[in-house]
Amino acid sequence: SVKVETLVLFGATGDLAQRMLFPSLYNLHLDGLLADALTIIGSGRSPMDRAAFHGQVRAALAEHLPEERLDEAAVSGFVERIDYCPVDAGAGTGFDDLATLLGHRRSRPVGVYLSTPPSMFGPIAQGLAAAGIACADCRIAMEKPIGHDLASSREVNAQVGSAFAEDRVFRIDHYLGKETVQNLLALRFANMLFEPLWNAQAIDHVQITVAETVGLEGRVSYYDGVGALKDMVQNHMLQLLAIIAMEPPASVTSTAVRDEKVKLLRSLRKMTAADVKTHSVKGQYSSGAVNGAPVAGYADELGQPSNTETFVALKAYIDNWRWKGVPFYLRTGKRMPERKSEVLIQFKPVPHNIFADVGGARLDANKMIINLQPEENIRVKVMSKQPGLDRDGVKLREVTMDVSLSHSFAGERRRIAYERLLLDFIEGDQTLFVRRDEVEAQWQWIDSIRDAWAAVDMAPQNYTAGSWGPSSAIALIERDGASWHD
Ligand code: BG6
Repeated sequence: SVKVETLVLFGATGDLAQRMLFPSLYNLHLDGLLADALTIIGSGRSPMDRAAFHGQVRAALAEHLPEERLDEAAVSGFVERIDYCPVDAGAGTGFDDLATLLGHRRSRPVGVYLSTPPSMFGPIAQGLAAAGIACADCRIAMEKPIGHDLASSREVNAQVGSAFAEDRVFRIDHYLGKETVQNLLALRFANMLFEPLWNAQAIDHVQITVAETVGLEGRVSYYDGVGALKDMVQNHMLQLLAIIAMEPPASVTSTAVRDEKVKLLRSLRKMTAADVKTHSVKGQYSSGAVNGAPVAGYADELGQPSNTETFVALKAYIDNWRWKGVPFYLRTGKRMPERKSEVLIQFKPVPHNIFADVGGARLDANKMIINLQPEENIRVKVMSKQPGLDRDGVKLREVTMDVSLSHSFAGERRRIAYERLLLDFIEGDQTLFVRRDEVEAQWQWIDSIRDAWAAVDMAPQNYTAGSWGPSSAIALIERDGASWHD
């Protein structure tokens, strides 16, 4: 695939661009990973001149990058790549100015990155096409969410698709750019140890937790009405689930990996009104304390009561041979006691306990705990004999095999997920981007939950900020004789 020569960033004055995209592009620049000829055009609705925009970018870098990465010569060189062009996609104005600014570069590969509200995706794609900025080598990247359900996601995909063919559409899920998520592929498919056990014969259940300590973070207009199911489960958690549970792809090419993910997502058992009350919990945080600091409840932050969930727990099943009968418990929430993303693989107990008659009455089943955030490590809990002569019986104890990746790979800078995604986008590698059928399969399952919630009129239950969610989320897993790994 040819490399992008001009990157056009819509939403360039927005929060994500300032916090993540410009710092990531700068890191790539500093590491010599951007071609000298690559130019960047920032675009937002407000009129601004180039110098003023450079000021904004400089401020964003200073705020969001560690000091040791900031080098004045590099920063100057970086902002020199950047132009600014106001475009108001809603009003349909500015596209011609953008075309003029691009000039001859318009017929060269342009990469358009949309970090705007999703309602703008269609209008921008179409405005670009009308202004002649969608040549055969041009491509487009989009942030989430793609629609708010299956029907609307199809609409957005069709609008964008009318200007950009699918092999030029890059749907972003920033979890896929995380090193730790990538490493799940290595763990599963670069080792012989785990894969033979990765199935319903050996595994009792799987837990996936993505807990955050933050609350609304001033994102009221986006978050309220969206909620945790659509904000976190539809995308990030389903991607994690797919990577953990999919069949081995034949290679790591974009088609092979994405084919397997789609197959897996399509095997998710749809939620029904009959089981939604025992298979799901919605929660909303009320006032409490996180890390010792008092925080307001969601409705107080919002200034009015709301039915939006800030926590969701789900019990999901994958109806295929490998996972027959294995529950996958998913849980995500804001204002939890700690920030942690973690996968727990709970193995089954051994079939027969040979130590039962000599004192080793209890054998804990093996567990594998994969920490993705904030620390990356993998721990396997195994049973071991306590040293001794065993005159009064064998004593067994659970011990931990610990692979701390931050330790094994100390000294290597952990890149921002967006560095890799931006570079792949520039280079045209779609492996870590979500394909159209994939995002639609995700929505299909999420819609089944939404519909089941509506059918039984499910409202969020309160949980105290700084707790692990409503008590019914604990009951959801404990009914099955298991418990959350906290
Ligand atoms: C975003 C969600 O996609 O992911 C946010 O919209 C959430 O609500 C964020 O806070 C979490 O990302 P990370 O990388 O901090 O785990």
